[in-house]
Amino acid sequence: MGSRNYTPEELSAALASMGVADATDVSRYGSGHINDTFKVETKSGVRYILQRVNTDIFDPVLLKSNITRVTEFLKSKGVKSLEVVGYENPWRLYAFLEGYTSVDVVTDVREAEQVAAAFAKFQNDLADMPPPRLEDIIKRFHDTPDRLRQLDEAVAADVKGRKASVAKELAFVDARRAQCSRIVDLMKSGAIPERVVHQDTKINNVMLAPDGTNVVIDLDTTMPGSALYDFGDMVRTSSAAAAEDEKDLSKVYSKKEYFEALVKGYLAGAKFLNEAEKANIAFSGRLLTLECGIRFLTDYLNGDTYFHTSYAGHNLVRCHTQFKMVESMEEQAAEYEAIVKKYSS
Ligand SMILES: Nc1ncnc2c1ncn2[C@@H]1O[C@H](COP(=O)(O)OP(=O)(O)O)[C@@H](O)[C@H]1O
Ligand SMILES: [Mg+2]
Repeated sequence: MGSRNYTPEELSAALASMGVADATDVSRYGSGHINDTFKVETKSGVRYILQRVNTDIFDPVLLKSNITRVTEFLKSKGVKSLEVVGYENPWRLYAFLEGYTSVDVVTDVREAEQVAAAFAKFQNDLADMPPPRLEDIIKRFHDTPDRLRQLDEAVAADVKGRKASVAKELAFVDARRAQCSRIVDLMKSGAIPERVVHQDTKINNVMLAPDGTNVVIDLDTTMPGSALYDFGDMVRTSSAAAAEDEKDLSKVYSKKEYFEALVKGYLAGAKFLNEAEKANIAFSGRLLTLECGIRFLTDYLNGDTYFHTSYAGHNLVRCHTQFKMVESMEEQAAEYEAIVKKYSS
């Protein structure tokens, strides 16, 4: 999404506009799928991360406002974060986090605990951010009933004639319809508070330090929401035994030991959670995973217009992995609730 080629002149001009005139090398970097990211080497030896924001997805003005406020607030508290060196929309320049590493998927329980601890600390660090409220960068991002509504619209339109082939998948969603509004309803009633949350809690958005002082990056979707959106999406991405588009569903399930490590890491840091939030920790994993599956199914029905696909049926394969993850979490629901209880006291 959004990726394109840039001429050396374009890159030099962007760097010059942010005060860097001695770049010796600018090369593509990382495995992010949203923005265009480059590593910048300079004569002085100082290194930077240069990014061009994906303006198809983000309103660059709102984004700059949120990122600036969040990074400045964290800096004012002495919390290590992304350091904004320059921001000239749609370009921005961050100090390169030297000595940190990032991984794309969780491969052991230690990493699962680390990622959860990092996002708990991030939420905690931002819990006392003064008003005004941050901008809603993507509206209704985790409004699951709204995602259902979009699915229903796609079914009604059936532009590609695919509806008949996904009867099983639609029945899977129908059986879980009643659950979909639980978190938004609890937020509407005030039982679950709105907090500043990250909303893209994959492990590759945590830069890992040897001494454990990990830094949360990729602040593009940091905006108001429920703390459970972050935890639920962590369960979806970091407890999964297989890739999001694994075709062999026998390999797809939620790993109990990773879930336990996520709960342990998260609850050790997220001391601010109230009872309604704690009561829905295990549920949030199921809901966020179901929601993601619903989005893949919707895009499949719409003719694959939102998510980048590599082959015909890619979105349906992704939908199947998400629904299999939901089933796996449902099967383990009692054990998952017991794990949450164990670390809640
Ligand atoms: N300040 C930084 N220092 C070092 N590496 C970084 C920094 N910012 C980003 N990266 C690397 O670039 C990758 C992509 O950056 P990210 O901001 O997550 O972009 P995207 O929104 O496309 O996912 C990260 O996973 C990380 O490996
Ligand atoms: Mg990222």
